[in-house]
Amino acid sequence: MSVRHVAIIMDGNGRWAKARGKVRTEGHFRGVEVVRDAAIAANDLGIEVLTLYAFSTENWKRSAEEVGYLMKLPAVFFSRFLKELMEKNIRIAMIGEMDQIPAETAKILQSAMDETRNNTGMVLNFAMNYGSQREIVLAARKYAEDVKNGVRENDLEVNQFDQYLMTSEFPPLDLMIRTSGECRISNFLLWQLAYAELEFIDLPWPEFTKETLKECIEQFESRDRRFGGVKS
Ligand code: IPE
Ligand code: IPE
Ligand code: MG
Repeated sequence: MSVRHVAIIMDGNGRWAKARGKVRTEGHFRGVEVVRDAAIAANDLGIEVLTLYAFSTENWKRSAEEVGYLMKLPAVFFSRFLKELMEKNIRIAMIGEMDQIPAETAKILQSAMDETRNNTGMVLNFAMNYGSQREIVLAARKYAEDVKNGVRENDLEVNQFDQYLMTSEFPPLDLMIRTSGECRISNFLLWQLAYAELEFIDLPWPEFTKETLKECIEQFESRDRRFGGVKS
């Protein structure tokens, strides 16, 4: 089965920097270049959607300085790489809540999405100010609203819930990779992960390469996804 939708928890920028006697933000800066490399590699591999966890709803707990730096990264990323992404026919998308993001950052994200709107290649989807519990609560509210307005009966089925989630337009999640050795989900795509394959790798995000992605896909392809059934 081919891999259509890959998600990555890009973790370990801070530790990578610290181990080199640098400040944490230098890890984030290097991480931006790796986002470009991963996007190009995923596109070359024929992946349809690459969802990258860039900023969680919990990351606001970090120092104002670090949060401020992280919020400037979309500007850094798109000013350097948007042209190349356009040439590769990649479309930019976002999940998460835009309204709490600083206006300057939101504007940059919105204009990258607008500019690439008609691109038909891979979708590079940033999870920005994203938390899956919040996503599920918002989906529940939307559904409740539909019931209240008489658009729906109170008869929601499991296979219909997706349409209320922020990922509704994307194919089901096949593979989730987390870098830097932590074996946890950190509030990422909780519903979507139900039958995704998981890969936790030790490499910190700044050292992730296209070869790493290829290895992860090979590993994925060697797995036997049974979805609760029995292999015939
Ligand atoms: C991932 O690296 C980037 C974000 C969470 C925004 P970290 O900043 O979490 O780096 P570590 O995990 O502290 O090393
Ligand atoms: C998850 O990494 C969020 C992103 C990569 C954006 P964290 O570094 O925030 O997660 P925890 O705190 O280790 O769980
Ligand atoms: Mg981390």
